[in-house]
Amino acid sequence: MKRICVLPGDGIGPEVVASAVKVMEAASDELEFVHADIGRAAYERHGSYLPGETLKSMRECDSSLFGAVTTVESADYSSPVLTFRKELDLYANVRPVRSLVQISGRPPIDVVIVRENTEGMYTQNEVFDDVGVTTMRKVTRKASERIVGFAIRYARAHGRRRLTCVHKSNVLKASDGLFVSTFRELMASGGRDLEGDEQLVDSCALKLVTEPSAFDVIVTLNLYGDILSDVAAGVAGGLGFAPSGNIGDRHSVFEPAHGSAPDIAGKGIANPTAAILAAAMMLKHLGLGADGSRMEAAVMQFYSSGHLTADLGGRHGSESFTEHVLKNLKPGPKH
Ligand code: IPM
Ligand code: MG
Repeated sequence: MKRICVLPGDGIGPEVVASAVKVMEAASDELEFVHADIGRAAYERHGSYLPGETLKSMRECDSSLFGAVTTVESADYSSPVLTFRKELDLYANVRPVRSLVQISGRPPIDVVIVRENTEGMYTQNEVFDDVGVTTMRKVTRKASERIVGFAIRYARAHGRRRLTCVHKSNVLKASDGLFVSTFRELMASGGRDLEGDEQLVDSCALKLVTEPSAFDVIVTLNLYGDILSDVAAGVAGGLGFAPSGNIGDRHSVFEPAHGSAPDIAGKGIANPTAAILAAAMMLKHLGLGADGSRMEAAVMQFYSSGHLTADLGGRHGSESFTEHVLKNLKPGPKH
């Protein structure tokens, strides 16, 4: 049995996570679930947006499924997402983006963005001085090696052919230069079976929109990966289609890449696709690949049979979407 820590969070988080849990329960009898608080509900109950007991439960479980949290505009607020990434050393953020629906005027996309998840612009080291603020941006050899090594192994394990290093070393010569040279070294020593490629981040953003087939797997620094994964999701139909895995050597947390969308919370129209695909990624990561694949196939069948969710102008809200996915789920072998 695998124990999953379920963290619904704020806004549409609880709705999409509930849908993903239903689909996981139907897809696999190898799972047990533990629920924990994060975000506003956690603050109201425990006085913290990420209580110690939640973090403890995330550490003790085999993996976690997280919904979303709403950012609070207050001086004492620090993002629980950034905190759990740091505390659990989740150094790789993996974001597969794939078109499930043909959207007029947008080319098909099938790309995996592997984002460095611990440093870069996310060190949050900002210093006030007389003229403004200076932000420290950190790029270390160790973190660059870890993420490039991860991306090489990921590409190989998933039958992908090309790995593109995305950077801005024409301007950030030393820091992004270190990232690119690490990429070249690791590709030369351990990635010879893959096709290596390099691309500046601005032209990568353009190409993701105009010619996404130019990319297979992208490995990049933290903030570039944050932005590019939203661009790629937009090409595929929106953030409702972008699952995400925060992965470390010991722990992992899977989440839909969208936020808490408070404007549509409680209306029954949130699209659970990203949450279900994130849950499927989690099962694959935990060695339950067949169950994860059946979940993905059930989601894909919903779209390939011509149905559309409300975010794409269709008539299916969260509940009717989930019912279809449950109906599409092929029976698995008995464990
Ligand atoms: C994401 C989000 C987070 C990030 C925020 C919520 C801190 O945008 O997961 O992409 O910037 O990494
Ligand atoms: Mg983001």
